[in-house]
Formats: sequence, C-alpha cells, structure tokens
Amino acid sequence: MNEYTAIVDYYDLLMTSGYYQYEKIAQAIASIISTEQKVIEIGVGTGLLLEKLLDIDPNYNLAGMDHTSEMIDIAKKRLGDRLNLFVEDIASMSISEEFDVAISNGGIGAFVDTGNNYDLYTHLTDDAINLQAMKNIANCLNKGGLFLINIQGVHDNYDKHLPDGIVYSQEIVESKTNKNCIEKSFYFRQNGKTVAQQTLTYRFFQGEAIQELFNQAGFQLKGKDASGNFFIYSKK
Ligand SMILES: C[S@@+](CC[C@H](N)C(=O)[O-])C[C@H]1O[C@@H](n2cnc3c(N)ncnc32)[C@H](O)[C@@H]1O
Repeated sequence: MNEYTAIVDYYDLLMTSGYYQYEKIAQAIASIISTEQKVIEIGVGTGLLLEKLLDIDPNYNLAGMDHTSEMIDIAKKRLGDRLNLFVEDIASMSISEEFDVAISNGGIGAFVDTGNNYDLYTHLTDDAINLQAMKNIANCLNKGGLFLINIQGVHDNYDKHLPDGIVYSQEIVESKTNKNCIEKSFYFRQNGKTVAQQTLTYRFFQGEAIQELFNQAGFQLKGKDASGNFFIYSKK
C-alpha cells in the first residue's frame, strides 16, 4: 500500500521544483551527523537527499530503504555503488545491520507545522502497523541512536507548472474509509491529458498520540535541530 509506482517517472521533476529544499535539508543533516556514523534513510525514494549529502561529504556512511522498487531503481542509477539500497517495507523490515542515525524525509512520514501544532503523518494507515514500523526503525538503531523526522508545511490543494509543459496538481480529501486519514491525489498533466496519477492515504496523529507512538516504540524526544528542519528522537 502507498507505493509511489504510478508517479515514479515524474517524482524527481516535482520534488526538484521546490517541493523539498534538498540542499537546505542536507545541510541541516550534515550539522548533526559525522562520517564515523552509519546513517540510513527510511523511505529513501529516488535518493535525492542522499545525493545532496554525498555532495557535502562523499565519506558519509549512508544507506537507504524503500518499498517502491521502481524508486530504488532510480536511486541506484543516481547513486551507483556508493551506498547500500534495500527494497523493504518499514512495516516488516528486518535489516540486521545497526545504524547510528535514521532519517525520515517524508519517508515513514513527517511532521506538519500547522502554525499552532506539529501533527505527524505517516504512510501507514493502521495503528498497530504504525507502532510496528516505529519499533522496526528503533530495532535498526544502536542504543542512543538518533531518529530525525522532517518538519514540512500543511498539505493543501494547488496547481504548479513544472518544466516540459507538465502541470502538477494535488488534491486532498478526508478519507471516508480510514479514520484519521487523508487521501492525497497527485496528478501530472501535459497538453490537457493526464500522464500520471496516484492517490495515497496518510494517517494523521495529533497531540499526545504522537508521543505515545514514539514512546511505545522506544524513542524519546530530544527536540528540534538548530535549523528547525527536523524533530530529533533518540532510542532509549
Ligand atoms: C514523499 S516520498 C520521500 C522520498 C525521499 N525521502 C525524498 O526525500 O525524496 C516517500 C517515500 O516513502 C516510501 N514509503 C512509503 N511507505 C513506505 C513503507 N511502508 N515502507 C518503505 N517505504 C515506504 C515511498 O515509496 C516513497 O518513496
């Protein structure tokens, strides 16, 4: 569920058109991690963020995992054999290696700054599976290891012109079938014709439910990073 298969060919075009500020995000991570630490990106996508990290320092010890094999294929083309990339689902992953830092940049999900609060969204709709996924992330970290989760803006409806005459539109509706979930539709159109489309379901957590989820998975909140791009948790 929630694989990005149908929009994989347009993903980079959208993301590099300002959806995420990869350079800024990579700079924020670079001021937290060192080349001695083993780092994994959860939901690595096409490897855009790890590429920016390697531009900062090619000696970073990086890995990435994602359940959309088509995204991993693009990440492999982008990053070659500079790092390990695994096709795994966070909900069932059993990576035997231990890491010092895990990063989610919209991977398992992200925090959303509503202006009043920070909500958490994830790509997993079921509560038990969300907890299992968080535990799986904790399990691939050393004791005291860090889990960085990015902070982004609210999901809203908009159209955006991309290069090559492509128009991107996103539409958000409350899910009628899944409690506490939204459905986000991505549309890519060219010359008035839809060339790719995908609808994904995101689960939202608010208030105490967020800390309960992290706490039960074995994480404690350390706070925001200096740049304000991430919440940082550590493995208890
Ligand atoms: C918004 S993209 C972010 C990709 C990347 N972190 C970036 O910054 O470009 C979310 C990624 O999370 C992956 N993802 C979603 N649910 C997942 C799951 N259950 N297990 C592994 N990866 C998942 C998707 O396949 C997608 O590549």
